[in-house]
Amino acid sequence: MRSLKKDERVRIGVTLNGRKVAAEAEPRMLLSDFLRHALGATGTHVGCEHGICGACTVLIDGVATRSCLTLAVQVEGREVKTVESLAGANGALNPLQQAFRDNHALQCGFCTPGILMSFTDYLARNPHPSEAEIRDVLNGHLCRCTGYAGIVKAVKQVAKG
Ligand code: FES
Ligand code: FES
Repeated sequence: MRSLKKDERVRIGVTLNGRKVAAEAEPRMLLSDFLRHALGATGTHVGCEHGICGACTVLIDGVATRSCLTLAVQVEGREVKTVESLAGANGALNPLQQAFRDNHALQCGFCTPGILMSFTDYLARNPHPSEAEIRDVLNGHLCRCTGYAGIVKAVKQVAKG
């Protein structure tokens, strides 16, 4: 395999929110930066940049993943979904997003995209979680605003439905 020269850029092709896209990046570029700066998917937020806060969570092949702990080159040929994938074509909120709105589960909204993506993955695997299970998922996310009660209520609303 050919080794890359310093600062050499590589072309990365990915299916982003159902659409095939490609852009160049240095091999050391984080997926979070690739999404935001190369592909314009700025709904993915960046907080801590070292895997603690969960704000940068996206789905890679359906699995919730910290995009700040993933290199852009690792998603070559794979499917990535960001928060932009959730609303309908006409901008209608999906049930999880609507539940967040209904239950005041966000204030500044900085943590929200990552939490929505984590629960998108989790609810697909466990559609009727207990409150303890919901809180366990939330262990992986920091919110400075809401105190989490609204978020738990929102997920419970969807889990019941
Ligand atoms: S920005 Fe990735 S976990 Fe905080
Ligand atoms: S809504 Fe502000 S950080 Fe969570």
